[in-house]
Amino acid sequence: MLITARKKLPPPVKSPFLLFRHHHNYFLEFALKSLVLGIESSCDETSVAIVAEHRRVLANEVASQMDLHRRYGGVVPEVASRQHLHDLPILIKEALDKSKTNYDDLTGVAVTAAPGLIGALLVGLSAAKGMAFRLRLPLVAVHHIEAHLYAVELDAEPVLFPALGLVVSGGHTELYKMGSWGQYQLLASTRDDAAGEAFDKVAKLMGLGYPGGPIIEKLALKFPEEKGNFPLARMKDKSLDFSFSGMKTAVGIEIKKKPLETDEDLARLAAKFQRTVLAEIKWRVRSCLDELKPKSLVMGGGVACNQTLRRVLEQECQSTGVAFRVPPAKYCSDNAAMIAGLGSHHLSQGRTTPFSATALASPSGSQPFLLQ
Ligand code: KG4
Ligand code: ZN
Repeated sequence: MLITARKKLPPPVKSPFLLFRHHHNYFLEFALKSLVLGIESSCDETSVAIVAEHRRVLANEVASQMDLHRRYGGVVPEVASRQHLHDLPILIKEALDKSKTNYDDLTGVAVTAAPGLIGALLVGLSAAKGMAFRLRLPLVAVHHIEAHLYAVELDAEPVLFPALGLVVSGGHTELYKMGSWGQYQLLASTRDDAAGEAFDKVAKLMGLGYPGGPIIEKLALKFPEEKGNFPLARMKDKSLDFSFSGMKTAVGIEIKKKPLETDEDLARLAAKFQRTVLAEIKWRVRSCLDELKPKSLVMGGGVACNQTLRRVLEQECQSTGVAFRVPPAKYCSDNAAMIAGLGSHHLSQGRTTPFSATALASPSGSQPFLLQ
């Protein structure tokens, strides 16, 4: 399907020397040592990007399936896979056109191989394998969550290490001690729901739409001074792990006790819920900053779009003299630029993925983000 999407394929490249000869622009050849095409299809966004030199984004095309899944109140895996299959060839062409890149300019193909919806992941991985095989390029499988952290380097300066990494997405809420890219220690994760999942589930309870995060944020902005919060979750074993399911239950009980009748009721409850989520994140981040004294705080994932969260953590960093690094919103939500960027970094370290590799819905292993 991918192969037929383009009219004329370049001749297979046999060696770096031949790769050089096929180029129409010698200057470009010297200037761009690395040009990686990235594919993201782990959930409900199909995306293809082209990234030069590990960080410079030349194209980042995203097709969101949100409208498709909205009527079901969440992502339907089979519907997602089919839509990825439809959108991917179109986006590949768009990304190449936008970045004025030919297939034979590429130096590698990166793809999200985990974690995510297994069918959705397999669509992207199969496409990437097909492309890499036909073009005789190295293939590199990328961990989606590691890429959410790497997104801070896109169109930006390198991170100062050691760093504290905070992932806040629809499926993950995690804190990592980061020695460098590739060197991580998990400090905390969630015992139940992820932060984004909590936003989505509470929005559903409140009769709002999907995804809940942006809707709740917009409502909460109407009452920035709203006082009070739901009970905070603290682990008995002193671990910094998160837990959001109790908060979701508390919201449900509050709605039963006092039904939401006006827009003001909705906005006040949204503000109280968001305040509590942010307090949970802020407390844990502060504990880690005090303990580790890192040079930077790196935040990534869809919930990192939240302006109030960004402000709260920026203030924390300012007061502790830590560099606060968060990507622009377009690189916080799911995108392929972060996949191409991280894949390009992996390739520069000599890491490639065999064609026998498969996708993993929820990889488990003692070392964070290690796929092979
Ligand atoms: O990282 P992401 O795009 O997908 C996953 O990898 O999970 O994150 C999606 C999540 C959704 O749960 C969505 O509700 C949440 O990010 N989100 C937000 C905001 N924008 C998106 N949560 C809070 N405030 C926002 N502005
Ligand atoms: Zn994500």
